[in-house]
Amino acid sequence: MKKSWLIAGLVVAAAALVAGLALMYILPLDLRDRSPVQPLAFSHKLHAGVDGIHCLFCHRYAARSPVAGIPAMSFCMTCHPLFGLQIKELEAYVQKRKPIPWVRVYTLPDHVYFPHMMHVRAGIVCATCHGDVAAMEPLTRFVDLKMGWCLNCHRQHKASIDCWTCHI
Ligand code: HEC
Ligand code: HEC
Ligand code: HEC
Ligand code: HEC
Ligand code: HEC
Repeated sequence: MKKSWLIAGLVVAAAALVAGLALMYILPLDLRDRSPVQPLAFSHKLHAGVDGIHCLFCHRYAARSPVAGIPAMSFCMTCHPLFGLQIKELEAYVQKRKPIPWVRVYTLPDHVYFPHMMHVRAGIVCATCHGDVAAMEPLTRFVDLKMGWCLNCHRQHKASIDCWTCHI
């Protein structure tokens, strides 16, 4: 009697494990918010779209360093006065002397190395990985950022797929 219960228990446990693995495989396990609420309603559609400001004007490190960088508040403040604009939400941060706590939309785990400049220099445009940002309001993540996404493109471009290329 006891033995048969034990076997039944093991069968149920094994089935649960298989079902769990199958679900992991089927579900897109991409649970992070793709379009987080930002502390300030910054519009790429307005700045990069309507006003046509170049991506690299604000994300100036993308072409020469691993990180693209988010512009500091002082940088934002240089332009608005030229158009006679006074943006209250922005000035509130300036007065508090606090950086705007933007919520990151694209992040990788710490063990992954992603160099922006290698990709920009290889001629891959921002939109390939970030979508049509100039039409976005608010900014929405365009890809799942899984390892398979990196590997697929590396295979297509004959770029390195050695583990040590990306894992440091
Ligand atoms: C090169 C010029 C330029 C820079 C740099 C710039 N802006 Fe602007 N911004 C504008 C212009 C022009 C408008 C008004 C656009 C319009 O109404 O057509 C604007 C409008 C805004 C608005 C108001 C939008 C609305 O809905 O009325 C906010 C908020 C804003 N900017 C935030 C920022 C932040 C944050 C930064 C820094 C990351 C920044 N801007 C950098 C030119 C700039
Ligand atoms: C006027 C300055 C400005 C311009 C021009 C601009 N951006 Fe941004 N970008 C920002 C600011 C500020 C943030 C942070 C707020 C947000 O996520 O919306 C940001 C965030 C981003 C992010 C998300 C970063 C993260 O992980 O949270 C991406 C991707 C991005 N920008 C790509 C682009 C691309 C591509 C273009 C050109 C089509 C562009 N940006 C033009 C100011 C700018
Ligand atoms: C090959 C794909 C790819 C291309 C091309 C690319 N990015 Fe990214 N971008 C990423 C990934 C992946 C991340 C997340 C990196 C991380 O967390 O280490 C990211 C993060 C960002 C961020 C967040 C902040 C930071 O400092 O990294 C910004 C801003 C950004 N990209 C802007 C741009 C702009 C502007 C361009 C075009 C000049 C561009 N990216 C081209 C894949 C790409
Ligand atoms: C759309 C295509 C594309 C995607 C997506 C992409 N890459 Fe790349 N990556 C390239 C190309 C092309 C190169 C080769 C650049 C060269 O050798 O000049 C490269 C080069 C690199 C390098 C430098 C390799 C070296 O030999 O030094 C690293 C590191 C890297 N990618 C990491 C990543 C990571 C991590 C991701 C995913 C988060 C990713 N890449 C996604 C196309 C891509
Ligand atoms: C082109 C870049 C790239 C290459 C090459 C690469 N990886 Fe990854 N790997 C990633 C990225 C990006 C992630 C993070 C994916 C995520 O968080 O979903 C990752 C995640 C992982 C994880 C999961 C860790 C975790 O966070 O749960 C393992 C294990 C792993 N990689 C092993 C390998 C091995 C082994 C190789 C060599 C055969 C390899 N990777 C080659 C980009 C790469």
